[in-house]
Parts: sequence; structure tokens; C-alpha cells
Amino acid sequence: MRLLVTGSLGQLGRALRNRLEQGRCPEEWLGAEVDWADLAEVDISSEASVAAWFGSNGHYDVVINCAAMTNVDGCEADFARAFGANALGPMNLARACAHADTTLVHVSTDYVFPGTREGERTETDTPCPISAYGRSKLAGEGLALSNNPKTHVVRTAWLYGEGKNFVQTMLRLAATHSEVTVVDDQFGNPTSADDLAGEILRIALTDAYGVWHCTNEGICSWADLASEVFALAGVSCVVRRCTSEQYKEANPQAADRPRYSALANARLAATIGNTMRPWRDALKDYIDYQVL
Ligand SMILES: NC(=O)c1ccc[n+]([C@@H]2O[C@H](COP(=O)([O-])OP(=O)(O)OC[C@H]3O[C@@H](n4cnc5c(N)ncnc54)[C@H](OP(=O)(O)O)[C@@H]3O)[C@@H](O)[C@H]2O)c1
Repeated sequence: MRLLVTGSLGQLGRALRNRLEQGRCPEEWLGAEVDWADLAEVDISSEASVAAWFGSNGHYDVVINCAAMTNVDGCEADFARAFGANALGPMNLARACAHADTTLVHVSTDYVFPGTREGERTETDTPCPISAYGRSKLAGEGLALSNNPKTHVVRTAWLYGEGKNFVQTMLRLAATHSEVTVVDDQFGNPTSADDLAGEILRIALTDAYGVWHCTNEGICSWADLASEVFALAGVSCVVRRCTSEQYKEANPQAADRPRYSALANARLAATIGNTMRPWRDALKDYIDYQVL
């Protein structure tokens, strides 16, 4: 098995590396030969850079694309860069994969949905993003699927792992503040990068190409998540709850975010089984073993 992981220094890339190097993966992956590439090695937004990489590294059985511009507010300010990384990038990878009959796993987001309806979205719900990030990611999904018939698009949400994320930000703020103000009317699924990596390695082995939802189970607001982080870490920091409107007033440059973007892992449940656990259990492991 030959695998290429792009965006390998990001949260999901590192989680995949940990799993594969520690053998916490389906047995088909044991002994796999893996190339790890981040922006310095291959800029996925550049067709020439992708072609050069594939030209000198030969054939892969699977490519997992973890590369993306994930700064949601930054995407609003620089849509050209966002479109390059999040839309042209997966297109370039899909084309390279199609030439070599390679499976592409491309990772996407809950922010492709508008968030106007309560409950969980399944893979058959219609996306309609409300932010530059969401628009660039939705374009990337379509370009990945249409340029390589062997493409899996895996949508996830509210990711935390090794790197910058909401959980780390809350813990950092709590070290210097006695209270934090957090939005309480946006709902989603906090998701462990390590759990997601495990599920992606299972999805990549199937030929059920198309769109998958993959998040930890259960729904909460950002304020609920902050409270749980402080409770699990034993940190005394008060969470002041605010509305999206109040947050936007204080941070006018911030991108709009969907109110209800929780995902249901419907295809996983209907096919290879949904092994994603409740978000609180995954967060507890993260706080216990990775953060403190
Ligand atoms: N983070 C979340 O909460 C979240 C939620 C839903 C979905 N997702 C999706 O999940 C996937 C993984 O997210 P993540 O949190 O692991 O991302 P991340 O930590 O931001 O890592 C992304 C990596 O891609 C690199 N990169 C950026 N532009 C690139 C380019 N043009 N070519 C090659 N590499 C490039 C980044 O390098 P630099 O750091 O140097 O830019 C970074 O190392 C992404 O597709 C993301 O859209 C994430």
C-alpha cells in the first residue's frame, strides 16, 4: 500500500501519522509506505507543484488530502487564497489521482451547510454555504468528485488535535483570564482528529465513493464545549454566554457561521458501521492524554 498525505503538518495530518506509526489502524495499512507532504513540499493549489510531486514520487494507491486553508475569518479576507487551497487544490489532486487510478480521500466541512434548520444534516441534505470558507470548500468537494471517479469526500466539524484549535484557545485564555465570552447559539459536533483519522483509514479501504459525514456523536454549542473543557481540565474559568449577533458586534470582521451545522454519520451507520464515540468521551481522552 502506498499512501500520500497532503497537509501532513496540520491537525488531521498529524493524527493520521500517529495512528499509522503506532499501528492503530486497520490491518490493511500495516507496513504501508507513506509520503508525508505539507506546503513546503507540495502546494496543492498549484497544478505544476502537484504534477512535479507525482512525477517524481510515482504511483500511490491512496491520497488523503488534509491540506486546506482553515482560518474561516482569513478566507473571508482572502478568497483567492482560500479558493486556491480549498477548491483548486482538491481539483489538482483529483486530476493527478485519476491519471493513476488512485483513490482520493478529500476532507471537507460542516460549514458547507447554511445552518438555518435545527437537527443534524445527512449526506443527502443540500449544502448552501454562508461564508467564503464554506463556498471554497463546497467548490472543492465538487471538483474532487467530478475529476476523479474514485473520490471520497469526508465532511467533519469542530476539529481538535495537535495544533491550533478551539479547545487549546480556551485553555490558553483560561491561564490569563477569569472569564471568557463564548457564542451559545451555534451548534455542532466537536470532533477528535484522532478519532476522525481512524475512521478515514476505514473509509479509504472501501469503494463506496461519494460523500461521508464523520464527526463524534452528540451536539453542543461553543459555550457548552468551553464549559466542558474547563470542567475536564479542572480549570476555574467562567463561561459568559453570548449570541452570534453580540459576537459579531464585538468582532465585525468575523465571517458568518452556520447556526445549526451538526452532521449525522448516516452513511457510516448504513455501510461499514459508525464507530465514532460521544464527543465528551473523546474530549476527555484528549484533555487527559494530550493536553495536560
Ligand atoms: N479545523 C477544523 O475545525 C475543521 C472543521 C471542519 C473541517 N475541517 C477540514 O478538515 C481538514 C483538516 O483540517 P485541520 O484542522 O487538520 O487543518 P490545519 O491544522 O489547518 O492543517 C492544514 C494544513 O494544510 C497546509 N496547507 C494550507 N494550504 C496549503 C496548500 N495550498 N498546499 C499544501 N498544504 C497547505 C497548512 O499549512 P499552513 O499552516 O502553513 O497554512 C496546514 O499544515 C481540512 O480539509 C479542513 O477544511 C477542519
